[in-house]
Amino acid sequence: MAREVATTSPIPRLTTRRLVPVSASASVTTQACHGAHPTDGLGHHRRSITPENHLRFPIVNPGEGEGGLPDDVVAISVATYSDDPGAFAAYGLNGVAGPFVKFAELLSPAATVLDAGCGPGRDLARLANLGHRGVGVDLNVDFVRRARREAPTIHGDLRALPLMPGYFDAVWASASLIHLPSDDAGVALSELARVAKIGAPLGISVRTGGITGWADDMPLGRRWFYNWVSDEFTTLIENAGLSVEEVSDDGLWIDVVARR
Ligand SMILES: C[S@@+](CC[C@H](N)C(=O)[O-])C[C@H]1O[C@@H](n2cnc3c(N)ncnc32)[C@H](O)[C@@H]1O
Repeated sequence: MAREVATTSPIPRLTTRRLVPVSASASVTTQACHGAHPTDGLGHHRRSITPENHLRFPIVNPGEGEGGLPDDVVAISVATYSDDPGAFAAYGLNGVAGPFVKFAELLSPAATVLDAGCGPGRDLARLANLGHRGVGVDLNVDFVRRARREAPTIHGDLRALPLMPGYFDAVWASASLIHLPSDDAGVALSELARVAKIGAPLGISVRTGGITGWADDMPLGRRWFYNWVSDEFTTLIENAGLSVEEVSDDGLWIDVVARR
């Protein structure tokens, strides 16, 4: 796909929550959390979800029941993909090929790779074709259902991954931090670092050259975007405990290769 650029929109007043980063020392544990549904992944609870057992945890639509997703820019943007999940799958089918090839060259054979914000699963299929064991995670329930056709996929939030520390040989986060305000992106990057093995490569891309705000004129519906500049983004990555190895910025997308 041609990757997306938002053009005009007012800068909104943010209504973000402060999320507590998950302790790196915690193995996957289960704690009771009143009101939270099993898969909302919002960090005030932990779940015993692994790629092996993830199907035992039901997918619950955001907003259902007590403890559903808060009404913020991230939740609204993620929900927009459900207007027509098939349209996004078709739109993105051939996307991100170059950065993916570069990332794939860094993988050891038969690597266990987290596709963080996997969408409908395009890159999970690519990983499987290369003999890797992809595991998806996404906050959009319709995308989780689609991605499960390709690989084990968990319904969860990048800001509080319901996954154990040091599990993954590599982490791929293609255009998945784009709806997160910068503080939340920092939390998500810490989470990606937490679940990666020491030495694991990470491929991460975000948008640049657009606007921070609601993009009402995008082909796939109303979503909120954060517009990054390279230095700000690489500093955030380093602050999350990762080493930046390579940065490419084409004025539309910033693609980073980092290392845990
Ligand atoms: C532009 S799509 C990119 C999908 C796919 N990675 C690709 O490259 O085509 C953004 C994806 O990130 C997911 N996402 C956004 N914020 C998220 C969050 N906080 N936790 C989990 N997934 C999130 C969305 O649901 C959506 O699937």
